[in-house]
Amino acid sequence: MDANPAQRSNGHTASAALAPDAQWRKLHEAATAPYRKAGAFTWHFARGKLARDPVFRGLIERGLIAPGHVRVLDIGCGQGIFSSLLSAMSELQASKQWPASWGATPAKARYTGIELMARDVERARQSVGDLPMVPTFTCADMCSAEFAPCDLVVILDVMHYVDLEAQERVLQRVHDALAAGTSEREGSTPGRLLVRVGDAAERRGYMISQWVDRTVTRIRGHRVAPTWGRPLSQWTALLERLGFSVQSLPMSQGTPFANVLLVADLKRRA
Ligand SMILES: C[S@@+](CC[C@H](N)C(=O)[O-])C[C@H]1O[C@@H](n2cnc3c(N)ncnc32)[C@H](O)[C@@H]1O
Repeated sequence: MDANPAQRSNGHTASAALAPDAQWRKLHEAATAPYRKAGAFTWHFARGKLARDPVFRGLIERGLIAPGHVRVLDIGCGQGIFSSLLSAMSELQASKQWPASWGATPAKARYTGIELMARDVERARQSVGDLPMVPTFTCADMCSAEFAPCDLVVILDVMHYVDLEAQERVLQRVHDALAAGTSEREGSTPGRLLVRVGDAAERRGYMISQWVDRTVTRIRGHRVAPTWGRPLSQWTALLERLGFSVQSLPMSQGTPFANVLLVADLKRRA
């Protein structure tokens, strides 16, 4: 029996004061505050993105980032919002303010972000480059950048920027980096890829997301280039062929998009 039922073994405190909505607001504040340093545009962009995009809170609430996912590779990281969120998550857990209904996440993640656009890398470095977790930001094309061995790869709304063959080559190298990471460490957490894509079979939502994507790309000061999509069934088949077991979760709540989060774990060797 629990000596103190309000204090769980994972260090989480079960209390009405730790209601998920209130704790999410704290995370939102803490994760976006560093962006003030880089100016109003960067700060407001981070605040809007973290508040309106369901994926970030969804990852936490669904327990998709496990304590063993320490080495994190964020491909197409933009201004590095996910690194700041990971850092805020560590602090909230360390101060025992993590809601009991959220699964534990890494106590201290080691984060690397890869981003094609120099302007975004600069915004990331200026804002969150000096966080205690010391994130690394590399300005590079995911099609040629080296992927070091890791435990978790996150690719949110990036795959459609490269053609179908390049997508497959990137995902193969992601698989290899996760396999190398898994073989280096002990424990039962399989390497995991979290990749959000648009489901091209859902025509209306897919077209709307592509239109918004082009508009945001322009606002962020970048050139708009062609994009490539696949229906969800093809994304799943591709990942399974590469050696992942795949679960798909709708991930566009509150938006008109057809976005799906694919949770792809390395298949265990028999
Ligand atoms: C829609 S944004 C998403 C940013 C971030 N993943 C997020 O969810 O906040 C897509 C990002 O992918 C980057 N990107 C596009 N093609 C890339 C490539 N070939 N290599 C690396 N990054 C790329 C873009 O510059 C952009 O910052």
